[in-house]
Amino acid sequence: MYNDNPTIADLEKTVDESKQGEVFFDGGKIPGQKSFYIESYGCQMNFSDSEIVASILAESGYGPTRNMEVADLILINTCSIREKAEYNVRRRLGVFNRVKRERPEVMIGILGCMAERLKSKLLEEEKLVDLVVGPDAYRDIPNLISSAEEGDQSINVLLSREETYADISPMRLGTNGVSAFISIMRGCDNMCSFCVVPFTRGRERSRNAFSIIAEATELVKNGYKEVTLLGQNVDSYKWENPETKEKVTFAQLLEMVALVSPEMRVRFSTSHPKDITDEVLYTIAKYENICNYIHLPVQSGNSRILKKMNRTYTREWYKERVDSIYRIIPDCAISADIITGFCSETEEDHQETLSIMEYTNYTMSYMFFYSERPGTLAAKKYEDDIPLELKKRRLAEVIEMQNKLSFDSNKLDIGKTFKVLIEGNSKKSDQHWKGKNDQFKMLIFPKTGDHKAGDYVMVRVDEVNQATLKGEMV
Ligand code: SAH
Ligand code: SF4
Ligand code: F3S
Repeated sequence: MYNDNPTIADLEKTVDESKQGEVFFDGGKIPGQKSFYIESYGCQMNFSDSEIVASILAESGYGPTRNMEVADLILINTCSIREKAEYNVRRRLGVFNRVKRERPEVMIGILGCMAERLKSKLLEEEKLVDLVVGPDAYRDIPNLISSAEEGDQSINVLLSREETYADISPMRLGTNGVSAFISIMRGCDNMCSFCVVPFTRGRERSRNAFSIIAEATELVKNGYKEVTLLGQNVDSYKWENPETKEKVTFAQLLEMVALVSPEMRVRFSTSHPKDITDEVLYTIAKYENICNYIHLPVQSGNSRILKKMNRTYTREWYKERVDSIYRIIPDCAISADIITGFCSETEEDHQETLSIMEYTNYTMSYMFFYSERPGTLAAKKYEDDIPLELKKRRLAEVIEMQNKLSFDSNKLDIGKTFKVLIEGNSKKSDQHWKGKNDQFKMLIFPKTGDHKAGDYVMVRVDEVNQATLKGEMV
């Protein structure tokens, strides 16, 4: 979901189908009702936040529309993670402003991480937007709209130590009715030196465990079959019941969610290699409906670079975690995020990234070249000294390695039969279903018999490429 490197898009075939900029909703504008249009960029947390924003707007009488030409309010939920992410947002703001020239009464709002990072600059210098709202201020959107209507500058970028939107039931947007996200925590306390997230999302805080279980229960009631628990570092989830003083860890939360319904698959993202415990691994192994798939970003395979990145683990530590995963959950799939060309990275360091990829045998990776972000520790302390061409060449090698690993891993699946959750029609044909197995691999297979999205079916794999498995229901 972070596919935004400029010139290498065509190389990034193994990157998850990008949903960047996805527009939600089937509904058109309802006559007489005010409407909003929203686009989301960045990580799954942003997509999840847009569902909270939609719910807040619905409370104040705004309905969703897919058509920006008729919307009263145009919102863009933004990402600052790399320079390219912000560049895309600026381009979209240009498009929205053309709509505003035709209909000056339209209000344009910027939400999310770029709003938080640039704050009032977006109102003052650039005059591209009417509203600027940071990730912890979404409850204030109705007030901000009112003051913007009165011509005042409308901005709220206050970060909070408490806000988790625990009581807001998200309006499920752009949903397939099968799979949904639940945010379990917000912010990040890790301070990886390359990363802007601690500045845009604030301090880490965990959401009330009961509200998470209530949301999962509601999803099951509405026919959903898969939830993904979201946080920047889910393994450090920690919530204390204010009445009993009992503490809930991530492993315990996973178990609680798994017990909501054996029919509902449970996934989670993102795990941090320094924090993922054996207790979590045993919990995954214990419950059939907790998927055997862990997204475990490595970033680099070299301990000196990891130290500079402030990841607080070494190559050896990471390999030990990988060994434990395969020991406790033998058929677990592991994926990663990888950055090439971080400050001072040598050719040998880069080779260590390639070799840890082979060691772990990732089924998939999200791969990027380093993009210096203003205000981060790395921007302050280290020189961004690897030329762009070299960063890109190393990235191409990392992508090539991942393609090989994905293809080899998929080839081993030929002849195997997997339990697959049908998500809907395959992209290319309405005669085929698409769905994922436990290991987060995508399967495509012809529609036979009487099935629908949300059904579990058994599929035998006959043919593979590096991105998908093809087969038949058995
Ligand atoms: N919390 C997650 C990552 C969130 S950001 C974790 O710790 O793993 C998603 C990914 O974007 C990161 O894992 C990293 O690989 C990448 N990323 C973050 N900052 C970046 C930067 N300045 N340049 C390039 N890639 C970056
Ligand atoms: Fe960024 Fe590191 Fe936090 Fe992930 S763990 S969001 S990379 S600071
Ligand atoms: Fe981007 Fe913010 Fe997510 S910077 S990756 S949208 S937390």
